[in-house]
Amino acid sequence: MNAHLLVPAAGLGKRLLRSEPKALVLLAGEPLLIHTLRRFAPLGLVHNAIVMVPLHHESTFRAAIDRAFPGAHVQVCPGGAERQQSVARGLDAIASDHGVVVIHDAARPFVDPETIREAIREAECHGAATVATPCADTILQATQDHFLEDTPDRSRLWACQTPQVFQMDLLREAHRLAAKEGRAYTDDATLVLRHGAKVRIVAGSPKNFKVTTPEDLRYAEFLIKEGSA
Ligand code: C5P
Repeated sequence: MNAHLLVPAAGLGKRLLRSEPKALVLLAGEPLLIHTLRRFAPLGLVHNAIVMVPLHHESTFRAAIDRAFPGAHVQVCPGGAERQQSVARGLDAIASDHGVVVIHDAARPFVDPETIREAIREAECHGAATVATPCADTILQATQDHFLEDTPDRSRLWACQTPQVFQMDLLREAHRLAAKEGRAYTDDATLVLRHGAKVRIVAGSPKNFKVTTPEDLRYAEFLIKEGSA
């Protein structure tokens, strides 16, 4: 499998109300990022992975990764102010022009390896794939001043997750165009879609949630403790 793993971990995680960067916050005694990387180990993707981290925190991340994965060749590179810039910097650090790029948020520690495999298979077949879950809630679209504007058909709505997987050349070209146009996206599947690519959706699980708030962190601790993570 010719796949390169990029892990955006440069967010400061202000909503978690902690002083350290979110990916270094301890979950059951280990940094969040390490839990996340472990999910990719069975696929051989930790070796040669690239982790984008907040500026000036490179050495702390380096030490945590080396402790958990001694001998694995993991690159640590500074991310940018927005997730899109962090991904672009990681892409620049990939030496190869071939294969697929697997992008997974450091803040999603419970992705299961079979979902990763399926996303890779779909991207190899269709060019791009994202994991997502069907929306359970009815989603309301509101005006700026909080009046209901529209209620999109729930049966076609999915909540975006990662991993997102792309053929290397397609992702590089879409990022180049997005930077040139000065357009910002919060995920890479939408970025490549806006530049003409087809993106296959792979059904994920609610367990692949993004640790964002202190409640999420407590829930993540609970899942590990009861052995269902
Ligand atoms: O901010 P958000 O929760 O969408 O972040 C999703 C992922 O992107 C997190 O793992 C975070 O560390 C990463 N990120 C990044 N660079 C930024 C902002 C977020 O790598 N500037």
